[in-house]
Amino acid sequence: MNLQQNILAVAPMMDWTDRHCRHFLRLLSPNSVLYTEMVTTGAILHGDRSRFLDFDPSEHPVVLQLGGSDAADLAQASRWGARWGYDAINLNCGCPSDRVQSGRFGACLMADPNHVAELVAAMVEGAEGTPVTVKCRIGIEPAPLGARDEYSYLADFVQQITQSGASSIVLHARTAVLDGLSPKENREVPPLRHEFGYRLKTDFPDLTIILNGGISSITDVENHLAHVDGVMLGRTAYQDPYRLAEIDSALTGAPLPSRHDVVERMLPFIEERLKQGAPLKAITRHMLGLFQGLPGARRWRRILSEDAHRPGSGPELVRQAAMAVPRQFDAQAA
Ligand SMILES: Cc1cc2nc3c(=O)[nH]c(=O)nc-3n(C[C@H](O)[C@H](O)[C@H](O)COP(=O)(O)O)c2cc1C
Repeated sequence: MNLQQNILAVAPMMDWTDRHCRHFLRLLSPNSVLYTEMVTTGAILHGDRSRFLDFDPSEHPVVLQLGGSDAADLAQASRWGARWGYDAINLNCGCPSDRVQSGRFGACLMADPNHVAELVAAMVEGAEGTPVTVKCRIGIEPAPLGARDEYSYLADFVQQITQSGASSIVLHARTAVLDGLSPKENREVPPLRHEFGYRLKTDFPDLTIILNGGISSITDVENHLAHVDGVMLGRTAYQDPYRLAEIDSALTGAPLPSRHDVVERMLPFIEERLKQGAPLKAITRHMLGLFQGLPGARRWRRILSEDAHRPGSGPELVRQAAMAVPRQFDAQAA
């Protein structure tokens, strides 16, 4: 798989982009690159590896995002990821949460570009040919000692990690404020500066730059693609998943599936996962936004939210919930 051909991606999101969510999003968007939630090196090296790494072949192209700050551990975790069949391994240098900072990884890694370069080199070695990529912010606050202006700092950071073998950068185009803002505020308060991504592409023309942050419409996507190689959608893809389908279809010409067809195509997967012990709600919670904006959407959400946890609930409940939205409102209904 050539990641460079994939110009649309769905962001890594903890608690959201698990394998159930990714399977669902793949039915809506055949061409986007899907990212796992961040998985720590500790979980892979010492935890239940299958639980953290298993995925369905339909999810390809799928990227494993790692959280860690120890070179040997990241090398080993990358090796596992590559052998498990992931299409790329991504290092999280963008998450600002306290929990992650206390592990000294995530966005705080951006304070030490030399160290990140060493981590990337170790991952490249461990990944045995599977591409290694980095997701970062445009900068961090408080600014690292000796930083000149924010863009120069970012450009130096990118220079170092690409020299170590990172093949692509995902840029969440906001500063991460490491003290005083919650992770949620850190996705909303620091202003978006997409132009940093554009400048990076000019300064590193051979490097694949994927831009992320606040991208929510086909117009946004087309505007950014005039400057960078790809775009990554986070909250929009999760909260309004049909928008992802529309964007994929507009970009690639892929046929737009109807929402009802997507529900039907989820049912065998749901059945299979239930047999393996997954609770129905763990799957349906990712589907709540599917009918966003259509008459009956609230009823769809309510049925799934209130009844999916009841014993014996299964695919039939999901089919019934979808009947709350009349097919004629599903624009692409066959
Ligand atoms: C619930 C949630 C969990 C997230 N978890 C991660 C994560 O595990 N790793 C990561 O790099 N970014 C994480 N992010 C940040 C997103 O990947 C993305 O950079 C951010 O939401 C901005 O994109 P958006 O404006 O399109 O949502 C998370 C975001 C959300 C909303």
